[in-house]
Amino acid sequence: MNSLLTDIDFIPEAPAQPEACETKVTPDQNTGRLRKLYIESYGCQMNYSDSEIVSSILAKEGFDTTSDLNIADVVFLNTCSIREKAEQTVRARLRQINALKKSRPGLVVGVLGCMAERLKSKLLEEEKLVDMVVGPDAYRELPNLINEVDGGQRAVNVLLSREETYADINPIRLNTNGVSAFISIMRGCDNMCSFCVVPFTRGRERSRDAHSIVAEAQSLVAEGYKEVTLLGQNVDSYKWASADGTEQVNFAGLLERVALVSPDLRVRFSTSHPKDITDEVLYTIKKYPNICKYIHLPVQSGNSRVLELMNRTYDREWYINRVKAIRRILGQECGISSDMIAGFCTETEEEHQDTLSLMDFVQYDYSYMFFYSERPGTLAARKFVDDIPLEVKKRRLQEIIDKQRELSLLRNQQDVGKIHRVLVEGFSKKSEADLQGRNDQNKVVVFPKGNYQKGDYVEVLVDSCSVGTLFGQPIK
Ligand code: SAH
Ligand code: SF4
Ligand code: F3S
Repeated sequence: MNSLLTDIDFIPEAPAQPEACETKVTPDQNTGRLRKLYIESYGCQMNYSDSEIVSSILAKEGFDTTSDLNIADVVFLNTCSIREKAEQTVRARLRQINALKKSRPGLVVGVLGCMAERLKSKLLEEEKLVDMVVGPDAYRELPNLINEVDGGQRAVNVLLSREETYADINPIRLNTNGVSAFISIMRGCDNMCSFCVVPFTRGRERSRDAHSIVAEAQSLVAEGYKEVTLLGQNVDSYKWASADGTEQVNFAGLLERVALVSPDLRVRFSTSHPKDITDEVLYTIKKYPNICKYIHLPVQSGNSRVLELMNRTYDREWYINRVKAIRRILGQECGISSDMIAGFCTETEEEHQDTLSLMDFVQYDYSYMFFYSERPGTLAARKFVDDIPLEVKKRRLQEIIDKQRELSLLRNQQDVGKIHRVLVEGFSKKSEADLQGRNDQNKVVVFPKGNYQKGDYVEVLVDSCSVGTLFGQPIK
């Protein structure tokens, strides 16, 4: 979740550029072989986090993850199905990679993730040069599946699990800045929002052992990390109990345990669901200074009838009340962001106006904004007609984007003149004379480098802003 994103084709919650990193792996001792794995990830942070699990599973088999496609023996695309556009991007990339196969006949090409799960063996038929199709709960099987492909077969495993959380697997951090990392706390989703493909591609919701989450946070701190983001499609429904039932942990309890790992570790989380976020969670955020005062609370639409069609199970009033609770408990400075869908089935102009007026009420710091894209097999695809013309969807989306730009600027202007604690992530995009990092509210802050470096916490007095960035001077 970066700064304000206005690209209508943007896939939410993903770091900017998927690019695997070089990691050092000892060669497999039985064969002396060292094969190279290249993974490209698409979609949400859960996918990026899964690629780190895949890298770890295959490291044990003598694979070295590389960022260089040209030296790869195995190429995986970890894919997303959330909108049609996301799948088109992957198909185009598969065609490029397949072209490489002509000159490198031994190259293994696999599709992982949500498209693998949605399309299953159809992908082998559609994209003739794909050798493997592996769903998100079958990554432990990757070594066997690669063996099958090495033996001349094509391999598919798209079984979903009710238990798999990869809790015991220590992810190999790819693309890391060495400062922030993601920890997956749960998998799947039980919500069945009518537009959404995730319950079909990720299966039933399950929560990961709380101890393994805390242990992962501890080892990240030992490695020098300063920030973790706890990931799940609906973190507020996190619920874990020990086998004998004596220990029960909900999301507020988990947040507290992770916050207590180190006062120097910033804790973020995503995504919160408006129907489930509790006051207990809000009070936990308030209690610990190292839990960021920032909540990603996707509303999707500001109109109650549309929300009902979307099967979001809350209405406009409920959402407004949750926002009021955030403001009451955490104050005006708590950052709030959202996801919005323009032009859902049967949405009228008045209903679209309700989305704009809700945005005004909440004053979102930023939003991820999309027009509705029908996904085969979802409740909406089966029950409703996708009847809003594309030009209308795009026009409504543009109005939502324009509104958000106005609000982001307004919210950023409110930050000018105030001191922000910034965790430095590296050089600013524009100049090595400046550093950039994020404040508590996840906003990018740029300031002169001085003697500061990546991983430092710096107090910055913000003196100006744009729609997407705050600028300031470090104070001694
Ligand atoms: N679990 C998160 C959302 C994950 S998907 C939540 O409930 O908020 C991320 C975002 O993609 C969604 O919030 C929604 O805004 C968007 N999205 C999902 N399905 C879509 C579709 N069919 N068309 C357009 N946008 C969609
Ligand atoms: Fe999709 Fe809804 Fe689950 Fe989010 S909560 S992943 S939008 S079904
Ligand atoms: Fe996409 Fe799957 Fe995430 S559909 S948004 S990669 S859960």
